[in-house]
Amino acid sequence: MKDGIKIVTIGGGSSYTPELVEGFIKRYHELPIKELWLVDIEAGQEKLNIVGALAKRMVEKAGLPIDVHLTLDRRAALKDADFVTTQFRVGLLEARAKDERIPLKYGVIGQETNGPGGLLKGLRTIPVILEIVKDMEELCPDAWLVNFTNPAGMVTEAVLRYTNLKKVVGLCNVPIGIKMGIAKALDVDVERIEVQFAGLNHMVYGLDVYLDGVSIMDQVLDELGNPNSQWSMRNIEAKNWEPSFVKGLGVIPCPYHRYYYKTKDMLEEEQKAAQEKGTRAEVVQQVEQELFELYKDPDLSIKPPQLEKRGGAYYSDAACNLISSIYNDKHDIQPVNTVNRGAIASIPAESAVEVNCIITKDGPKPIATGDLPVAVRGLVQQIKSFERVAAEAAVTGDYETALVAMTINPLVPSDEIAKQILDEMLEAHREYLPQFFKSVNA
Ligand code: G6P
Repeated sequence: MKDGIKIVTIGGGSSYTPELVEGFIKRYHELPIKELWLVDIEAGQEKLNIVGALAKRMVEKAGLPIDVHLTLDRRAALKDADFVTTQFRVGLLEARAKDERIPLKYGVIGQETNGPGGLLKGLRTIPVILEIVKDMEELCPDAWLVNFTNPAGMVTEAVLRYTNLKKVVGLCNVPIGIKMGIAKALDVDVERIEVQFAGLNHMVYGLDVYLDGVSIMDQVLDELGNPNSQWSMRNIEAKNWEPSFVKGLGVIPCPYHRYYYKTKDMLEEEQKAAQEKGTRAEVVQQVEQELFELYKDPDLSIKPPQLEKRGGAYYSDAACNLISSIYNDKHDIQPVNTVNRGAIASIPAESAVEVNCIITKDGPKPIATGDLPVAVRGLVQQIKSFERVAAEAAVTGDYETALVAMTINPLVPSDEIAKQILDEMLEAHREYLPQFFKSVNA
């Protein structure tokens, strides 16, 4: 890879960027980055300047020869990149707050990546990702796209279906969070734990767990049902699982499964939060303000611990481990979003899945897991259908397709309610959805 690696991070002004920079610094001995380009749009310029200055101080403190560039010129940044990471949010947190609040009015879960919120986020995000891919094909055709932008599963599906880019990987911190959670609950070192992951993004299950190579699934399922175990992520209420349910399910659900298996409880919790402390996006807006105040401090040259209040903890480990394993052809096992190629029998071969893969210089090679257990197979297939129809709607701007996506989502109770929610949400996000308002904009 020439003399040193060039990484481009789109959405570089994100409050998460110090995590990523810390991850690169920690791994410099195996991942010699020469240039790190943080790219943002005009609306993100102020954040980019603040977080970019912190990134420069972090690199300087570490004494490493990484050139950090800040720019609003995406195309200039992409030229000859080796890895492009994407972590942007179309419409910023204000748009996420609408995704969370509007469905609640109709008695439906309002969430960033699940249900109506996930659909609308996909409709806003996919066209932008496809534009980035177009630029990549022209300016850095050999680069890898490492996407964190949510909804990461739907975005990966769209890139696989609607572009010719083969070098795309979707990443998430849910699997690493589950692994950490198990290690913590059992009070063992995380390196001793191995989890066999399979499913979709934010819909992934642990099919088996090993401690030093011995399956400890029964113990882990007991722990999941333990009411004292606070095993969740920062952004999701840690509502207890019914012990006999998880035991009977026989696989480890991810924190997001609470929206499907505990819909009523989660809805009530969201409604209460929306009235009292604000939705998750509104809480995160506060956290962000505090973070950016800290980032401004010219004496700060490390990632501040307050960043751990965000749900994306460890995401840089997932990202940096992946990039390093591709670069170093490590052949280690990591759970990522990639093309299925038959690894999960019940999902189309050409679709995106989140599954354990062997990571090589040619990318992730999914490990065959066969069929998912019958108790979870249907839900996973249903969500995959939702993601596919949603991606099609995002690309075509077709209203009927969007309505079908909304209606087949298991969190939406009827076609009529789906239509009401869709109409209100399309209008609310109009400025970010030009594909749905073509005749008006023409
Ligand atoms: C988890 C998910 C991410 C999501 C994040 C939200 O980590 O895996 O996909 O972006 O939570 O966290 P936040 O602090 O923004 O609510």
